[in-house]
Amino acid sequence: MTYDVSAILFDEEKIEKRISDLAACICKDFESKTPVMISVLKGSFIFLADLVRSLTIPVEIDFLAVSSYGNSTVSSGVVSIKKDLDVDVTGRDVIIVEDIVDSGLSLKYITEYVKKHGAASVSTCVLLDKPEAHKDNIKIDYLGFEIGNDFVVGYGLDYAEKYRNLPYVAVLKEEIYK
Ligand code: IMP
Ligand code: MG
Repeated sequence: MTYDVSAILFDEEKIEKRISDLAACICKDFESKTPVMISVLKGSFIFLADLVRSLTIPVEIDFLAVSSYGNSTVSSGVVSIKKDLDVDVTGRDVIIVEDIVDSGLSLKYITEYVKKHGAASVSTCVLLDKPEAHKDNIKIDYLGFEIGNDFVVGYGLDYAEKYRNLPYVAVLKEEIYK
């Protein structure tokens, strides 16, 4: 697996440090509240697991699955719900936890979806952002790192369901998907 990546962008130590900073901000902003953390499957499962264990406030956790990529590295731009929420978010403070924002269409869709279900507030917590790829105005409240337009894998992120278990975030060699 490690032969398929060209560069490691963020190693375990860097990620851990950044997550503890994000967690501190979330704890401060949601002091005396119990937000619902909604993890967008599958890419954010490791980020969520590390993030919530750094939080000292009570939280509830739920999962949402959307599709827009299939086995491609380019977003289809069409988003649909594959696994719906279990928690009733009416009147709740919601924090959407996403692995990466590329075009931003998924996050935009999910934010609107949660608002439509009556959430009192909707915040977004994203590990990686590709600002050059945004196709719309995207609001990220808690961001791990900005990156360029490379396709990255590891720490939950996949290419065709592989590489999620790499403990770091790395650039996938172009020859793997071209
Ligand atoms: P968007 O809707 O174009 O912002 O795409 C967001 C989703 O596409 C993310 O939640 C990821 O699951 C996936 N994605 C986008 N860029 C990458 C990447 O570089 N590596 C792995 N998955 C990606
Ligand atoms: Mg995702």
